[in-house]
Amino acid sequence: SAFEPCDFVLFGAKGDLSRRKLLPSLYQLEKANLLHAGTKVIGVARQEYAVEEFVEIVKSNIEKFSGEPLCEDTWEALKARLDYVCIDMKNPKDYKKLEGHVDPSRTMVCYLATPPSIYGDICRGLHECDIIDESLRVVLEKPIGHDLASSKVINDQVAEFFDEKQIYRIDHYLGKETVLNLIALRFANSIFATNWDHNCIDHVQISVAESVGIEGRWGYFDDAGQMRDMVQNHLLQILTLVAMEPPTTLDADSIRDEKLKVLKALRTIDSSNVNEMTVRGQYTGGFVKGEEVPGYLDEPDANQSSRTETFVALKVLIDNWRWAGVPFYLRTGKRLPSKVSEVVIYFKRQPHNLFGESFSTLPPNKLVIRLQPDEGVEITVMNKVPGLTSKSSMDLQKSKLNLSFSEAFSEDRIADAYEKLLLEVMLGNQALFVRRDEVEQAWDWVDSILQAWRTSNEPPEPYQAGTWGPVASIGLLARENRSWYESK
Ligand code: BG6
Repeated sequence: SAFEPCDFVLFGAKGDLSRRKLLPSLYQLEKANLLHAGTKVIGVARQEYAVEEFVEIVKSNIEKFSGEPLCEDTWEALKARLDYVCIDMKNPKDYKKLEGHVDPSRTMVCYLATPPSIYGDICRGLHECDIIDESLRVVLEKPIGHDLASSKVINDQVAEFFDEKQIYRIDHYLGKETVLNLIALRFANSIFATNWDHNCIDHVQISVAESVGIEGRWGYFDDAGQMRDMVQNHLLQILTLVAMEPPTTLDADSIRDEKLKVLKALRTIDSSNVNEMTVRGQYTGGFVKGEEVPGYLDEPDANQSSRTETFVALKVLIDNWRWAGVPFYLRTGKRLPSKVSEVVIYFKRQPHNLFGESFSTLPPNKLVIRLQPDEGVEITVMNKVPGLTSKSSMDLQKSKLNLSFSEAFSEDRIADAYEKLLLEVMLGNQALFVRRDEVEQAWDWVDSILQAWRTSNEPPEPYQAGTWGPVASIGLLARENRSWYESK
């Protein structure tokens, strides 16, 4: 592969994210021959390990989480790159230990897969041990803060030592093939490019449904809730890609400038309109995929009086020229019937009905972008039913034009988002990472909703696990004569 070798330093190498996602992703990049021959992977954690012990830990996690039998050749190649350094990340003196393990003449990528509360310590430590120069890249995981104020604190701590050009903030949804495909779909197809506004589009739906609960993370999740955990980042990022103006180029800042403008145009939701624009829910016990599951308040370690939301539905308005009057309905929740993410564009009806009654009952065109699983793009179109009929000369029916990724690209495995993002960091391309002003703008908008919820002092609405959320979520659309798209 063409790019330069680097020292990839993984802080928090023993943590959940490293084990489940980052190490298996490095393994896949190795398998695809996308790591430079000279690239090294240096694990950093608090525990004292011999390199051999660390190598064993990496191996067992790859076996457990890569979802496929270990390929010996790939593993041997990856193993040869591994190194380990034990560092107490809060102690700036400890970072000296990196000397001899990293080569200052090469690009260094520091991936902070640690709690954000120690991002500042790590950056200071790297700074004080004198291994920072402009070639160093630092990768930050979410959550960047809990609200606008705390996200500024974290961003300031990092900015004290690094320039924005060196900072790669992860939103792993930006590494998903289908999310990236939104850019191609919109700007490489004139049939969409010219129809993408309030003249042609009635409304947009963005759903990110999960069937999992909180997976043993009660403490973290209860502090965050679905709004901070999913809407502030993933759903708003999808929304910006659907709604942004065409960027001038695909450069990082061209794209990020346009995304930021969308975030700035979001209509504020506060106490004056929160009831009309938002729904929040919390799951109770039920059945998901035939299996009985406990309610949120009965999960292990739960605080029984928690009012944290596990479901959010929103009506979002974008106050700009393109989107005036076009609602974007967003919903996301835990313990819904299945894991499915999709964007659905509902086009407007035809201005005049030529087809009589049978047409008025048929729905307008819809573009369904299936983000996951069963990745694909589908358009519903009206079609004349072929054949002779005595009733009328034109009977219509709804048909689908369907592009299924697994059929169209059956040779290619769909890469995990983290594989794409790790590669982009190594290439030094920031386009798929979130800029500081985007994160802060998103927090600003979200904070206002969270504040309004706190002020209203109402508990979230219960919904049974295995259903599509509280009844009010249906009402949010029904009162405007619309309904949620029913995924298959
Ligand atoms: C993470 C959230 O960012 O995204 C999790 O913290 C959530 O709560 C996950 O389950 C969903 O990601 P994906 O890629 O499985 O859709």
